[in-house]
Amino acid sequence: MKKLKIADGIHMLTMNVKDILFEGIWKIANGVTLNSYIVQGEKTAIIDGVIGWDGVPETLYRNLEEIGVEPQNIDYLIVNHMEPDHSGWISNFRKIKDDFKIVCTDKAARILASFYGEDKIKIVKEGDTLDLGKGKILSFHPVPNVHWPDTMYTYEKGTKTLFSCDMFGAFGRMGEHCFDDELTPEEIDFFEVEGIRYFSNVMATFTPSLKKAVEKAKTMEINIIAPGHGPVYRKNPQKIIDDYVRFSQYADGAGKNEVTILWGSMYGMTAKAVDCVEKILQREGVKYNKLEMPLESESTMVASVFKSAGIIIAAPTYEYKLFPPVAAALNELGRKKITGKAAFRLGSFGWSGGAEKELHEIMERNRMNWDFVESVEFEGAPKEEDLNKVEAGVLKLLEKMKEKIVE
Ligand code: FEO
Repeated sequence: MKKLKIADGIHMLTMNVKDILFEGIWKIANGVTLNSYIVQGEKTAIIDGVIGWDGVPETLYRNLEEIGVEPQNIDYLIVNHMEPDHSGWISNFRKIKDDFKIVCTDKAARILASFYGEDKIKIVKEGDTLDLGKGKILSFHPVPNVHWPDTMYTYEKGTKTLFSCDMFGAFGRMGEHCFDDELTPEEIDFFEVEGIRYFSNVMATFTPSLKKAVEKAKTMEINIIAPGHGPVYRKNPQKIIDDYVRFSQYADGAGKNEVTILWGSMYGMTAKAVDCVEKILQREGVKYNKLEMPLESESTMVASVFKSAGIIIAAPTYEYKLFPPVAAALNELGRKKITGKAAFRLGSFGWSGGAEKELHEIMERNRMNWDFVESVEFEGAPKEEDLNKVEAGVLKLLEKMKEKIVE
């Protein structure tokens, strides 16, 4: 756990976590940071206190002491969001200090009661304030369904700091550099990639709510954005706001000038057509990400499709339906409400078709509204005329995706 000063009377404690499945699902290749913030006036508040997945609150207490905060002197615990990555230490904290007050939205209060039996809670609404003394005044601004329904922003007026919780966060462990002005160009790229992974894996389902949260942030005067995960933005907070606007567009079908090939093959027939697709993309100078299912993690698959303007689905018929690992991937993308992508499907069949029918069922059931060029199916191995049709399909896709590109 690392301790950093954000401003006078405001500190961050940040902890890197790796080798976990985030939410019990997402295999996050580069881990994640968990950030807590301490605001000290005459009273002391901790925002989104975290203990990490080691489940050792003593680590948090020791670090608080090292920045001059006795855990026993914490008056308020601000729960911006009840999910246990931000609140999992509450019951333990009650054991060493019983009279602190939790500050949260009404929805968080209900979840806190059901998870931890908490009832010493001050419920806040839009614009409510908490004066900690010495000029530190916190105000609270619900942003429901920025992940869970209970989420709120906390804003510190004197320093114009927005404690944004999951909003404006990113996966990826932080090294020595935790502020935007310290990041190297490589680290900036890293956190952009990890921001996309985070948004697509965890938040994309709630994109309409995230757009509202962006609008709310735009109404605030902000000098610092201090999220629950990832770097703190103090030089250019507008950068992460703009990134989140762009990520919201990716959820609605826009993407970078790149193609994701989402593919699977039983006995190598569809794979022959994928080889042909790769050669065409190389010839056309288009960046592509080739993801073989089920070998690729869902985290990487969702992030890659999410950020790409064009998607090529290469999958055969399997037992009268779409090759199951690719069908499962598409269902997950549907659950994440990744809509409006420009797409092209190709695939082999043996004794009967059926993949195409299931593809359209998945699209309709999840209201994905992907914009397909005509599919190419072939019996057994692709013949020359099939590969010619594949080439035509790829070129049409590249044309179609041009209007979707947002870098
Ligand atoms: Fe940071 Fe919704 O968890």
